[in-house]
Amino acid sequence: MTIQIGDIAPDFTVATTDGTLSFHEWSDNSWVFFFSHPADFTPVCTTEMGKTASLSIDFECRNVKPLGLSTDTVEEHLKWIEDVNDTQNTTVEFPIVADEDLKISRLYEMIHDHESTTQAVRSVFIIDPEKRVRLTMTYPMNVGRNFSEVLRVIDALQLADEKQIATPADWQPGDKVIIPPSVSNAAAANLFPQGWDEIRPYLRETHV
Ligand code: BEZ
Repeated sequence: MTIQIGDIAPDFTVATTDGTLSFHEWSDNSWVFFFSHPADFTPVCTTEMGKTASLSIDFECRNVKPLGLSTDTVEEHLKWIEDVNDTQNTTVEFPIVADEDLKISRLYEMIHDHESTTQAVRSVFIIDPEKRVRLTMTYPMNVGRNFSEVLRVIDALQLADEKQIATPADWQPGDKVIIPPSVSNAAAANLFPQGWDEIRPYLRETHV
């Protein structure tokens, strides 16, 4: 069954580089950046692991816990982490799931048969503190993800929750935001006392 935006992220208990982890309990009150990669000791994956580690402060200040996954073993992950730290000049501190039996990859539909029947593609699930899936992205094996985009969508989701707004194309923190059509002008007057520009009745922009 496809996991859709708004679904509760399926729970699981699994071996990781930090010991056995029960997903819902581990995520606690944090957001989660849950991401899969095809295999340890491969070049694109090595750069992605290093990048995630180097952004640890950026994730932490957004209350986000990264969680990696591949179908390799804990032992392989731990050996590979040494390489990642060495080559990417960083320290991997977040857990990586060892999904040897493909149970979680299958549960989260990270195995795409035309890419591989034994290795995961590059899936991303952004999960909120209520355990709801808020965003999914899927990249093929040979294209590394854009981590600026990962942080940008987390910022957009968190701001949308806090301020009842939506974000326009290519939005960056500090840019104008959109008042959603579901918010009437009367409600908007309370929510956005600073006012807004009405480009069309359905397209209202403001700063928050
Ligand atoms: C890589 O991480 O470089 C990679 C892994 C699997 C297939 C293609 C690339």
